[in-house]
Amino acid sequence: MAHPLFSGSIADLQQQLAAQHYVADRGLAVSLFLAIRLRRPLFLEGEAGVGKTALAGATAAALGTDLIRLQCYEGLDISHAVYEWDYARQLLELRILEAAHTLDRSTARRELYSESFLIKRPLLQAIDPSRTRPAVLLIDEIDRADEEFEGYLLELLAEFQITIPELGTVRAAEPPLVILTSNRTREVHDGLKRRCLYQWIEYPAFDKELAIVRARVPHASARLAEQAAAIVGELRSMELYKAPGVSETLDWVAALTALGKDALDAEAFDQTLGVLLKSKEDIESLRGQDVAAVLERAGARTARQD
Ligand SMILES: Nc1ncnc2c1ncn2[C@@H]1O[C@H](COP(=O)(O)OP(=O)(O)O)[C@@H](O)[C@H]1O
Ligand SMILES: [Mg+2]
Repeated sequence: MAHPLFSGSIADLQQQLAAQHYVADRGLAVSLFLAIRLRRPLFLEGEAGVGKTALAGATAAALGTDLIRLQCYEGLDISHAVYEWDYARQLLELRILEAAHTLDRSTARRELYSESFLIKRPLLQAIDPSRTRPAVLLIDEIDRADEEFEGYLLELLAEFQITIPELGTVRAAEPPLVILTSNRTREVHDGLKRRCLYQWIEYPAFDKELAIVRARVPHASARLAEQAAAIVGELRSMELYKAPGVSETLDWVAALTALGKDALDAEAFDQTLGVLLKSKEDIESLRGQDVAAVLERAGARTARQD
């Protein structure tokens, strides 16, 4: 059955993402395409800053639907992920009913546990049957949530339904497109992975990173964009405490451009290291290095990849 969000080809999908300034290589586009077609969640793993979160936003925009985001953290529980009764409003309503002397037990129960007192959190919003177009549901950084929560998700992703004891069962008319991400600070449970299609996102190679810079910082000079992409690639091959992600590349190019640079020089390199590297040790090990030499090594790397 055709998917209500997308019926095009893999190349179409890649193009629609590009229109949202997201550069997806063929491998990632195929995985996303299959997740849509097979109605399976897509599980993205990779270092921080390789474009996992951004893919969900770009996909929702490309498919013309809502992005619903659940940011995971330690201690995340059902009341923040699924739903919660609005206790304060229920109490107030109870007072009003009391004052009006209209209180009988079954009416009160019906009134107080109706949908208008329900606070819908992201997972419930995503399977809301009144939704006319399936949403993109981003479950971001699942590795930060507790394992118990993973177990709960596993059930939800199998059925796309949630039972609220006081109200009944809520079931999605059409399941959302689910994108889960992990920065791999711990292993995610096999059962959860098994339910999903899996895609590892690498740091981009030179050409891809250059395309990302051109898409995201279009006003930067072509030469600067190339030099920056090459140097970042070189830095990632060095023994650094924390390798720069794509966000750092983009910030760096934007910073250099803001300083009026259309090519890299030693002074600008030194002044903007803090945009690129976020640890004292890394900055110290780079500071005072010969930019020309780093550029040359970077150039050699790009030449090898051509
Ligand atoms: N393939 C890409 N195309 C366009 N922008 C990208 C791409 N990969 C990363 N970015 C940009 O890099 C930044 C970091 O990406 P993000 O999705 O937050 O990384 P992650 O979630 O993997 O840590 C974002 O500003 C994003 O726009
Ligand atoms: Mg992210």
